[in-house]
Amino acid sequence: MTQVSSKPGTTSTTNGNHAAAAQSQAQGKRALPGPELWHSAAHSTDKPIVYVNGRMVPKREAMVNVYDHGLLYGDGVFEGIRVYKGKIFKCMRHIERLWRCAEAIRMKVPISKEEMVDIQRACIEANNLTDGYIRLLVTRGVGTLGLDPRRCPTPGVICIADQISLFPPDMYEKGMRVVVANRPKTPIACLDPRIKSLNYLNNILAKCEAIDYGCHEVVMLNTDGYVTEGSGDNIFVVKGGKLYTPPPEDGMLEGITREFVIKQLCKDCGVKCLEKRMRLEDVLDGDEVFLTGSAAEIISVTQIDQHDGKKITREVRISDGEGPITKKLRARFREIVTSDHVPED
Ligand SMILES: Cc1ncc(COP(=O)(O)O)c(C=O)c1O
Repeated sequence: MTQVSSKPGTTSTTNGNHAAAAQSQAQGKRALPGPELWHSAAHSTDKPIVYVNGRMVPKREAMVNVYDHGLLYGDGVFEGIRVYKGKIFKCMRHIERLWRCAEAIRMKVPISKEEMVDIQRACIEANNLTDGYIRLLVTRGVGTLGLDPRRCPTPGVICIADQISLFPPDMYEKGMRVVVANRPKTPIACLDPRIKSLNYLNNILAKCEAIDYGCHEVVMLNTDGYVTEGSGDNIFVVKGGKLYTPPPEDGMLEGITREFVIKQLCKDCGVKCLEKRMRLEDVLDGDEVFLTGSAAEIISVTQIDQHDGKKITREVRISDGEGPITKKLRARFREIVTSDHVPED
């Protein structure tokens, strides 16, 4: 039977809660919302086994302290990493970015890089993961209710190895429709989007714009109107056989997949790639557009719409389905991640 708290410091059964509710009502008090409101079978499972601050625990027990500033303030950093054929794709690049981001928010990761890799491997093994996704978090740690990070002596470390599926599989062939977010990207001077912080509200609220118009993703512009990235992925534009992507100085995460496209896939496929500052019109004028990310991998964008907060005001078709250069790069990507040489560097 579900255990519910009827008042602070006590627990009772569901029936007990009714009694407590009746008693509270009789006393003119409202009963506290019980845990049945939050209970979800999906969260009550054994799998995956999660690493939380030194312990490997089943999902249902994978909890953080409510005084952790990661929860209280979104104070911390994270990584999203793919596992292909049991290997951690571009593991070292993710580890380096995690350390860089931690330093940027003046936080010292409490374990070594080698230990962080060991934790990931232990989670892969504990969950028999061959292909999947790792979420690594370093939170500011348990502190007081004030903002002061000095009150959080030890950052928390969490590693979740699970599955992720952002988009329907057939979207990779057909391409996706996106909207341009009206909400601009947080300016670098406020919080540099190169920091993969636990504070993703700017991205989430932009994503809500996509959801409002029946899309999965957005194109985000900075406050000067230059194109930056999606809510959780980087953007590329093909024009005249060449590939263009915005420079990180325009305000975006320096994606590991983006880097892999530029340094590896383009080289392998003989495609020239340039970083170039772009206005929205440059993207709309592209022959092909695609997004990249650890979770998204490589996905074609075939239509970009604009909205005014109430309705779609402009629809621009980019291509009919995935274009030839996107197809070639994605095929090479799949070839590498399904080979016996998945790069962990
Ligand atoms: C805002 C944002 N941009 C880009 C990316 C792509 O980065 P990566 O390729 O390292 O996953 C992500 C990934 O999580 C992201 O959150």
